[in-house]
Amino acid sequence: MQGALGSSSRSMDKILVHGGYPLSGSIKISGSKNSALPIIAASLLTRDPCVLHRVPDLSDTNYMLQILMHLGAEVERASGTVTVKAEKVESIAPYEIVRKMRASVCVLGPLLGRCKEATVSLPGGCVIGDRPIDLHLKGFQSLGAAVRVENGNVKVFAPKLTGAIVSLRGKFGPTVLGTDNVMMAAVLAEGTTVIEGAAAEPEVCDLADFLNKMGAKIEGAGTRRIIIEGVHELHGAEHHIIPDRIETGTFLVAGAICGKGITLNRVCPGHVASVTTALTEAGYKVVTTENSISVSPNGSVPKALELVTEPYPGFPTDMQAQMCALLSTTEGISTITENVFPQRYMHLAELKRMGAQVQIEGATAIIQGVERLYGAPVMASDLRASAALVLAGLKADGVTEVRRVYHIDRGYEHLDEKLSELGAHIERVKE
Ligand code: EPZ
Repeated sequence: MQGALGSSSRSMDKILVHGGYPLSGSIKISGSKNSALPIIAASLLTRDPCVLHRVPDLSDTNYMLQILMHLGAEVERASGTVTVKAEKVESIAPYEIVRKMRASVCVLGPLLGRCKEATVSLPGGCVIGDRPIDLHLKGFQSLGAAVRVENGNVKVFAPKLTGAIVSLRGKFGPTVLGTDNVMMAAVLAEGTTVIEGAAAEPEVCDLADFLNKMGAKIEGAGTRRIIIEGVHELHGAEHHIIPDRIETGTFLVAGAICGKGITLNRVCPGHVASVTTALTEAGYKVVTTENSISVSPNGSVPKALELVTEPYPGFPTDMQAQMCALLSTTEGISTITENVFPQRYMHLAELKRMGAQVQIEGATAIIQGVERLYGAPVMASDLRASAALVLAGLKADGVTEVRRVYHIDRGYEHLDEKLSELGAHIERVKE
């Protein structure tokens, strides 16, 4: 079945980026990783087949599909379309796959909703910081579930789930997957659930749209208050995953760093308004249509920025590393304050090895723009940091060697091929 789930990750590859080649032309943006993951998990909530279009071929989405197969679901992939049929379902997610991807925690909600029990290994921390799930578990308890954490697993179970008022307000703002998980448990609960302090990301709205197509009754997705009226059962549905707004933002930054003018097609401009606003403020020319965005230099010297990452619709934490790459060669002093994952600065040490001048004060990176960066062998540490290093390499003098590109394969569908289409001199080689 692995073959049917798309390319296996070429984990020990590295990417060589030959800097100084301007980008131009256009590419299509793929479906959203962070929308596809919870929507694939939500397919567990019905015995009927679910047909999902524009599922990106990534190691993360393929891990999620493998987890569903381990749980007993039938999975078929035909290019970007995935069909999931969870006629019968186990409730224990296998450690050996779950440990590879934190987002696998979002099978807890649908398994609790469908089977009234679930066992998933606790997600470890990762380089962007501790990744607690206390708010997910508190949400399940509010719905009447008991929660037990033992030998690295979390077990949730409930004789029945009863609608309730669930507060998901956390120290670092709303929780995206926590909102998804509680929503997926509440759709089959008895009575009405109100989620206060919900995440409002477009991916949460896309999940709510999919659940409503399955027969759920959810209102208010996209606001901080989501109301879910429990139903008895859900049926199969067909859905097109929204475009990936972080891939969109990543390519917008590529176009700003070294573009003569690039166009991104099949996007939702509204989902990246905070990024296009920042690039416009910095002096780049950004033109949007209903489903495309173009970015190009506009002849003036780009300006330094002061950015703060915040929950949606604020500037996304998943775009912080990419902006550090752009601002490291933008004249003047820029700052980025990371309010969501305060330790998410592993990429700065590598950018400094390329000549960037950056220092960290608390959760703020202070970036003194330099004339040029120099190609160097660099080490990717997480998904967005590795993309940022590739972007820096596009601009640097010489060759940048980005190792551990399995991080990139987790969340970007053919990043190197899409950059080549735009004129970058980039190649993937065996380590
Ligand atoms: C989602 O992660 C995304 N992943 C992340 O994208 C993204 O960075 C993050 O949201 C924030 O936007 C997916 O959607 C698969 P959170 P999630 O729960 O849901 C704290 C990428 O690069 N928190 O919204 O796991 C948490 O520590 C990835 O694609 C608690 O304290 O993040 C963080 O500081 C990286 N308790 C903040 O809330 C909890 O129970 C936001 O985390 C849950 C979270």
